[in-house]
Amino acid sequence: MSNDAIVILRDDHKQVRALFREFQKSSTTTARKGAIVTKVIELLTVHTYIENEVMYPQVRIMLPELEADILESYEEHHVADLLVTELSTMEPGDERFEAKTTVLIENVTHHMDEEEQDWFPKVREGLGRNRLQELGEALLAAKKAAPHKPSQPSALKKTIDAVIA
Ligand SMILES: [Fe+2]
Ligand SMILES: [Fe+2]
Repeated sequence: MSNDAIVILRDDHKQVRALFREFQKSSTTTARKGAIVTKVIELLTVHTYIENEVMYPQVRIMLPELEADILESYEEHHVADLLVTELSTMEPGDERFEAKTTVLIENVTHHMDEEEQDWFPKVREGLGRNRLQELGEALLAAKKAAPHKPSQPSALKKTIDAVIA
């Protein structure tokens, strides 16, 4: 397996996209949709963690000209985190489950498209092969330490409910 940081991140995106496609198929059962969302929550929690903790801060130091892109990415991750946290408290039969997942898919697809089409090429050009290998090793190490579920979903949900009420 390649230790190139961008290859690792792209591979995560690929897995997430495959699950999104399966969720959107008309033949996918409600029970299967629940299992897909559980897996998506896990993949996104780990992926967001390694980007937030390793990739973004390191690139921000090495390529300060990409700061605006990184700040936008943190905000996009924040929106995805809120949706993921809310989804983690829901059941597949809930009225808003399908709609919330659809909004998550739209948001995360947009974010991954931007990373792949715009941001990764700039990072590859700016950092070069050796630095991307080092970063990739740091990403793999971070994966081992990453949480697999959103932290304290019930506490956050209470806060959100209180704000909405
Ligand atoms: Fe990201
Ligand atoms: Fe990503």
